[in-house]
Amino acid sequence: MEPVRRKSDLPQVPAAIDFESLRADFPIFAASRQPLHYLDSAASAQKPACVVESISQCYNHGYGPVHRGLYPLAESASEDYEASRRTLANFINAAGAEQIVFTRSATEAINLVAQGWAARYLQPGDEIWVSQMEHHANFLPWQRVCTSHGSRLRIIPLDSEGRLDLEQAEGLFGQKSRLIAITQVSNVLGTINPIGEIVATAKQQNIPVLVDAAQSVGHMPLDVQDLDCDFLVASAHKMCGPTGIGFLYGKTDRLAATEPLLLGGGMVDEVNIDNSSWAEMPARFEAGSPNLAGAIGFAAAADYLRGIGLQAIEQRVKELARLAYEKLSSVDGIRLYGPGPGLDSSGILSFNIDGIHPHDLAQIAAEHGVAIRAGHHCCQPLMQRLGVSSTARASFNLYNNEQDIAALVAAIQDAKRILGYR
Ligand SMILES: Cc1ncc(COP(=O)(O)O)c(C=O)c1O
Repeated sequence: MEPVRRKSDLPQVPAAIDFESLRADFPIFAASRQPLHYLDSAASAQKPACVVESISQCYNHGYGPVHRGLYPLAESASEDYEASRRTLANFINAAGAEQIVFTRSATEAINLVAQGWAARYLQPGDEIWVSQMEHHANFLPWQRVCTSHGSRLRIIPLDSEGRLDLEQAEGLFGQKSRLIAITQVSNVLGTINPIGEIVATAKQQNIPVLVDAAQSVGHMPLDVQDLDCDFLVASAHKMCGPTGIGFLYGKTDRLAATEPLLLGGGMVDEVNIDNSSWAEMPARFEAGSPNLAGAIGFAAAADYLRGIGLQAIEQRVKELARLAYEKLSSVDGIRLYGPGPGLDSSGILSFNIDGIHPHDLAQIAAEHGVAIRAGHHCCQPLMQRLGVSSTARASFNLYNNEQDIAALVAAIQDAKRILGYR
């Protein structure tokens, strides 16, 4: 495997980026008949033309089966697939490309660790810790494995501002703790969790940490060697890449201790009638025909974001969220959830308007060309903590601008007028 670049080799962040002109990289904004104020990037991000072109280039000119043929097209397809893996390893500064396992999604990656790793070692009485802000994808796999092994799923509670209340998480770093599985950024509150601190403390007790980075990879600089986490998961579609592909990053010893979730073609060393053995990492975790175009599009998205600069993207999105928070705060009857603007808050804002159901709000917003999400956001335990069944959510990405915020505020005012709330 080609060596992965060290942090010091990473390109410098350009001084000033004209984000308004970057919007033109996303054909969907030019193509839509009415202005599109897309504020649902936490669900799935829009795609720049270069990502779509990389996929069409693959299907039009470079498509072949991966790791399954000896003719030139099959060989170049295999090379492209592995080059994409290296790009993603570089993107998060993994020490080796073989530490990146392609999966269908962040969800599948977490399930792989739950079933392939945790299920092998968990004993009755052991504890797995998650937080009350987890997406169901980082909650249900642990709930299931704990239930089936007589283990206990423990919850890190939240304070009144939507931050982790680590002081109340008694036993988090204790003797029974076998894994901490935690999101880096909440997909509802926008809270950025102190993952570095959690990993550092967990490490002293030899407790592994899985980071759900679905809302952070591609949104902020991220270096897995620096973070020192054991596992980390991400999805391409949240970072301007295609749907249907994500990855699991794992430390080499952790991946070596993980059993494959899916068995089948491409992941074996030798298959006999009575017994079989698995291929090396990461192939052993990638049974079935690999998603070549997905991997290429994923790598193209990483290159695109890296070309802009992750630090610049993070700053831009935080600035938009700060502005939105300020404007929304002045709306009568609004209740905003989460810590609000600051270092530990990203580009995701959740809110409710007195007397208006978030679904009604989202529907009226849609008439204004404003796309927001309404619901429980796959975070029902968090909704229980907030004492609501759903919220409205606006989430920002690099292509958003101040007009999107103004359109959101106008849509909320209109909803209040139509639904009679003053
Ligand atoms: C924090 C978080 N984790 C995990 C997921 C699951 O991602 P995917 O549906 O791409 O597997 C999401 C999706 O919204 C998320 O926001």
